[in-house]
Amino acid sequence: MTSVPEKTIKAAITAVGGYVPDDILTNFDLERMVDTSDEWIRSRTGIKERRILKDPNKATSFLAIEAANEVLRKSNCAPEEIDMLILATITPDMKVAATAAKVATNIGAVNAFAFDLQAACSGFLYSLSMAAAKIEAGHCQKILVVGADKMSSIVDYTDRTTCIIFGDGAGAVLMEASSNAFGWEDEYFRSNGMGQEFLHVKAGGSLHPTTEETLAKGWEAIYQEGKTVFKNAVSEMAFATQEVLRRNDLQPETVDYIIAHQANKRILDATQTRTKLSQKQFLTNIERYGNTTAATLPLLLRDYEDQFKTGDKLLFTAFGGGFTWGSAFYTWAYN
Ligand code: UT7
Repeated sequence: MTSVPEKTIKAAITAVGGYVPDDILTNFDLERMVDTSDEWIRSRTGIKERRILKDPNKATSFLAIEAANEVLRKSNCAPEEIDMLILATITPDMKVAATAAKVATNIGAVNAFAFDLQAACSGFLYSLSMAAAKIEAGHCQKILVVGADKMSSIVDYTDRTTCIIFGDGAGAVLMEASSNAFGWEDEYFRSNGMGQEFLHVKAGGSLHPTTEETLAKGWEAIYQEGKTVFKNAVSEMAFATQEVLRRNDLQPETVDYIIAHQANKRILDATQTRTKLSQKQFLTNIERYGNTTAATLPLLLRDYEDQFKTGDKLLFTAFGGGFTWGSAFYTWAYN
């Protein structure tokens, strides 16, 4: 018996969109920039190439606007009907003001309130949860949830431990009250501040405002202790996923698709083994985009949308800086 209470209103994704920049940074390009090889990157991460937003005048808002506009084009929703817009990102255009407000105004969502949500690679999943709650409570009818990151703006392209992983991109979904029995079912989320040490951009915040010293030390770029992040990602995503399976009385083989954060193909494989799910349930696009942080989950939805059918059982799972992580059970609501 499931321990999850029945919902009177369920929130459902009704349209998806995405955008990646045209410029491609291949493993062979990286071979010329740092001491690495295509073979090492492919075997250790599964990544072949990533997209880079090269135009210095374009920022995360540009990626987010492209993705949001695709959602609007694919849905019957006029921008004025949007009640709320959440932008998950760790690379806002500016530290202050909210990039989400710029995105909302640019797409014509004049009746929306908009804000950024920062939970690193879990940002989009946390945002979906917030949007679902506002719809279930009857506070909002139509919500745009966007995940966008211009990771190239915080990557040090002389650091081979990080520059091979990240890419730029954006994805977005429209969420509204479900017209059938399907949508957001259940979630299990956690965080642990001890993880700060292992994955961060150290400077530019209130603890270490930017100075000549922070610049000289490279503290404006993303840093991670890969092995520690890797181990925690596998154990926490596996635990959260098993918890969601248990709470909803789901056998692993009855799940249609796993929409997992694309950080490293080996993380996905290890999580799959631990959860007794099968490899074919895990959707991937990491080989083409790398790790786009808040954008990996909605880009997966965009890339595989044609495959999903009404009633399909999806499990989302993500892990990121903070640490932040979680899993959610979702039933797809349209063909
Ligand atoms: O999105 C959420 C946050 N991020 C993640 O979830 C990523 C988690 N971590 C990872 O994906 C992996 O830890 C990495 C891909 C970052 C690294 O892979 P790894 O298998 O954990 O490698 P490692 O750090 O243990 O390094 C193994 C060796 C080292 O050399 P020695 O000490 O054995 O001689 C590294 O110096 O590989 C070396 N190395 C590289 N060699 C070629 C590290 N980066 C590279 C590189 N090319 N780019």
